[in-house]
Amino acid sequence: MSEPQLTADAVDYMTDTRPIAEGPAGPGCAKRDPIVVADDVSRRFGGITAVDVEHLEIPRHKITALIGPNGAGKTTLFNLLTGFDTPNSGTWQFEGTNLEGMSSYKVARLGMVRTFQLTKVMGKLTVLENMRLGASAQPGEKLRNALFQGIWGKREKDITAQADVLLAKFKLDTKRGDYAASLSGGQRKLLEMARALMVNPKLVMLDEPMAGVNPALTQSLLDHIKNLKAEGMTVLFVEHDMQMVRHIADWVVVMAEGKVVAEGPPAEVMRDQAVIDAYLGAHHDVDLGAAGGVQELEEVLAADEESVVGTEDAGILSEESVLSEDSEILAVRPPDDEDDDGDGTRERRTGRRAADSPPDVVPGTSHDSRED
Ligand SMILES: Nc1ncnc2c1ncn2[C@@H]1O[C@H](COP(=O)(O)OP(=O)(O)OP(=O)(O)O)[C@@H](O)[C@H]1O
Ligand SMILES: [Mg+2]
Repeated sequence: MSEPQLTADAVDYMTDTRPIAEGPAGPGCAKRDPIVVADDVSRRFGGITAVDVEHLEIPRHKITALIGPNGAGKTTLFNLLTGFDTPNSGTWQFEGTNLEGMSSYKVARLGMVRTFQLTKVMGKLTVLENMRLGASAQPGEKLRNALFQGIWGKREKDITAQADVLLAKFKLDTKRGDYAASLSGGQRKLLEMARALMVNPKLVMLDEPMAGVNPALTQSLLDHIKNLKAEGMTVLFVEHDMQMVRHIADWVVVMAEGKVVAEGPPAEVMRDQAVIDAYLGAHHDVDLGAAGGVQELEEVLAADEESVVGTEDAGILSEESVLSEDSEILAVRPPDDEDDDGDGTRERRTGRRAADSPPDVVPGTSHDSRED
């Protein structure tokens, strides 16, 4: 990716202070320049209404945090918007294009990509091969063609060149030939993000990009997210860590029990009674907007097991990561429905760390651990 090119009347997205909402902030409020507009999107699982969003607009060129307690429907909403799941009702547009019924491949090719709460890199492929898959969300292309027969000619070279630029940027270039399984959980998150960028997206949706990542890599991930915006992309990310949300989000959307219950700039939203109610239940005495309020909230939650909002990503590489030769190219597709890997909701609750996932290391200090 190149540095942002600013012409005389171009907007520097990092310093653009124009209002994000058209009028007052609040659930479902209209945005000055929305990239996604969703209406009446609902998804039920048996008796549970996981998502019931009346109206939602995601502002273009901004970093929007989607927050809410466990089970609020954040991942399900991601799955619906990106074509990985089918809603019971609803319509939504990306840059004015109706996405209803569109496959995840096509959504990605339009420029709307997402990463998963449980990282989905292919452990038995190398880092570079994973990157190349990211560029190959093309119906009908077979994995073996893409990877082993070299039939792409110039396109293949271009893809490799683009992958190398991104790998260098994400400090994964020294791991280029290593199996993805040898990466730490944090490095897998970086790889998944880098791979998503292979389609030159306009909107990048990250489901808990920081969860389970060693603090040594957290800052690097935050910088990458800010860079996406600097380069003109729009970011929508799910995050439980309020400090992080306050640090990088321009706008915050709060979900609870499937609905959008609050929206606004971070500082305002964290003072919102609906947000405090959603997170705290009985603990109404904490002011998220006050100095120390967020910390106080986290302390209260830590002491109250039923209110735990943190999520650890196990960085698990599932059996599905083992590709058969005939696999369709999967780009960023999760396994099928019953396998909860698709939304990360089941394994996540165990909060465990994968035994086969090496601990995070600061880039450049790790040893090459490829097992051939
Ligand atoms: N495939 C599924 N089958 C049945 N129920 C599901 C499925 N996926 C999600 N749910 C339920 O839908 C609700 C919303 O889940 P979802 O994973 O979207 O929440 P979330 O906000 O992402 O939570 P977390 O912060 O824990 O990741 C939950 O009650 C969850 O148990
Ligand atoms: Mg989730």
